[in-house]
Amino acid sequence: MDKARELISRLERTHSLALSEYQYLIDSLSPGLLLYARERAERVRKEYYSNDVFIRGLIEISNVCKNDCYYCGIRRSNKSCQRYRLTKDEILSSCKIAYSLGIRTFVLQGGEGGSLLVREICDIVSSIKELYPDTRVTLSLGEYTEEEYRKMRQSGADRYLLRHESADSEHYGMLHPKNMSLESRLNAIRSLKRLGFYTGIGMMVGSPYQTSEHLAKDLKLIEELSPEMCGIGPFIPHKDTPFGNFGAGSVDLTLFLISLIRLIKPNILLPATTALGTLMDGGREMGILHGANVVMPNVSPIYVRDKYALYNNKLATGAESAEGLLSLEKSLNKIGYKIAYTVGDLNERTKE
Ligand code: 5AD
Repeated sequence: MDKARELISRLERTHSLALSEYQYLIDSLSPGLLLYARERAERVRKEYYSNDVFIRGLIEISNVCKNDCYYCGIRRSNKSCQRYRLTKDEILSSCKIAYSLGIRTFVLQGGEGGSLLVREICDIVSSIKELYPDTRVTLSLGEYTEEEYRKMRQSGADRYLLRHESADSEHYGMLHPKNMSLESRLNAIRSLKRLGFYTGIGMMVGSPYQTSEHLAKDLKLIEELSPEMCGIGPFIPHKDTPFGNFGAGSVDLTLFLISLIRLIKPNILLPATTALGTLMDGGREMGILHGANVVMPNVSPIYVRDKYALYNNKLATGAESAEGLLSLEKSLNKIGYKIAYTVGDLNERTKE
């Protein structure tokens, strides 16, 4: 067996590699190696989750953002972004539709700060949990203090997505303005873990200036933090950002990293992201086939869909209609998987 395959099979057994070994794997990516990793990852994934795919109803509650990340279409400086903020009623009615379709996890995602007060967030979460006690609520609203996160947790929020974006602080600094730092991002992530949130981190693949060493550090961070969830997707340029002229990230490398992450943490909740589906027809299905076990159909009201443009040509395939979810179901069936209409918690079962 060649060295790269040996590393992958060791990763499957021990769930850990040295930084330089992760980097070696990334640098060795070839169609054959991708296939090898995919086979290992799919096997592990099936051991924990069979052929179930968990669904999360994604509600984009606001695109108002105080941050100015160089890659993001809803950055504060983008004057051509039409800002909106959903009302509590609009959010609750999105939940109602999603619930009626069988969705049992709602993800409230939005720009950071400015538009929604912590008090309002908590009020919305507690109303959702009162109306639908048999659901999970995931928040994805950026950095807050531990005290603020505690209030959100107490109001009933179960999970929180906060991508670390890059585990290399210098690279992090090339993606974000000076007032943001990896240190503060990691502190927020640690607060979330302490509070008992299912915590999700993640990064873009192929973001400007990213090297294989940076990605190796991302993998090492995932190994060390052992987050319950991890979202990765290819970088896709948005024309009204400083990174508008950079090329998009690689689909193959994204799929390879999905497989490696599955091997690092066998029971991780790992979405096949919208960005993957945007860059490639059938990209989300490919994500599932490489070890992902979650999809997040958009259930935001139709009239705000095009406004939540993090990058150009963002897919807004919806489960807003029974039809949308049905077509997702069909395309998953075609590749041998099925939607699990459950809250989709982590499978904590330890391997015999
Ligand atoms: N391409 C791909 N992903 C992006 N995100 C933001 N902008 C882009 C882009 N241009 C991702 C970031 C953020 C998440 C909500 O979307 O990683 O954390």
